[in-house]
Amino acid sequence: MKKMIIGNWKMYKTTSDINIFKSEFEMAIDSANINVEYGIAVPSIYLCKVVDIFRNNKNIKIYAQDAHYKEEGAYTGNISYKQLLDCNVYGSIIGHSERRAMFNDTDEEINKKVLALSRNDLSTILCVGETLLEYQNKISVSIVINQLKKALNSVMDNDVKNVIIAYEPVWAIGTGIVPKPEEVDLIIKEIRKTISELYNPKFGNSIKVLYGGSVNAKNINDFLKLNSISGFLVGSASLKGSDFAELLELGGKDA
Ligand code: PGA
Repeated sequence: MKKMIIGNWKMYKTTSDINIFKSEFEMAIDSANINVEYGIAVPSIYLCKVVDIFRNNKNIKIYAQDAHYKEEGAYTGNISYKQLLDCNVYGSIIGHSERRAMFNDTDEEINKKVLALSRNDLSTILCVGETLLEYQNKISVSIVINQLKKALNSVMDNDVKNVIIAYEPVWAIGTGIVPKPEEVDLIIKEIRKTISELYNPKFGNSIKVLYGGSVNAKNINDFLKLNSISGFLVGSASLKGSDFAELLELGGKDA
């Protein structure tokens, strides 16, 4: 199966940066051999614009970084899953650790968001991951599996096909520090085992499970060697069009 690489722009970029990204990216992929599924998660204010400027590239999937579970309502500052559909956005990241830590996204809210998005055929990149303290206390597996089970509560077989899991240890995000590939392998296998138990073994094998946290062109190959991994969620290395294109090229090669 093709690997998947999703860039997460977080709260970076303005209109001119986006235009520069587009031209650098297109120039770089023109001469590259891209053999991965890919997308970018962009700040909500630019979603419609980015969908529009990439309308001629059917391969790039445009994601939001969060979405509300209600169709509409008095939720100042939020965007709803219905608004994503209206703008032809492909899906959204849900439960990123920055949202959990800084915007109080609880497991219950994350579950409501996963339910709303997946039911409405929006691709849902569900992030799970332990903090440094939890890692040091050697409870990563139980933390991650607990987040996973809570987020998938009541998500039906028919809808879970829209869910992609991103394992992102909080201590690896934006730090330049990465876990050992075998540590990532262990967690991804536990995630697949849990999905097999909650749904079925076939789906446990086939669900996309990404790794995220300080992935770049120098270390991607170490993780590509893992059979368990389906791809990557990438922050800082997705900000420059040429860097992102390089990652996509590397991600499509056999490790
Ligand atoms: P990073 O971010 O690649 O900059 O560590 C990853 C993420 O937050 O998804």
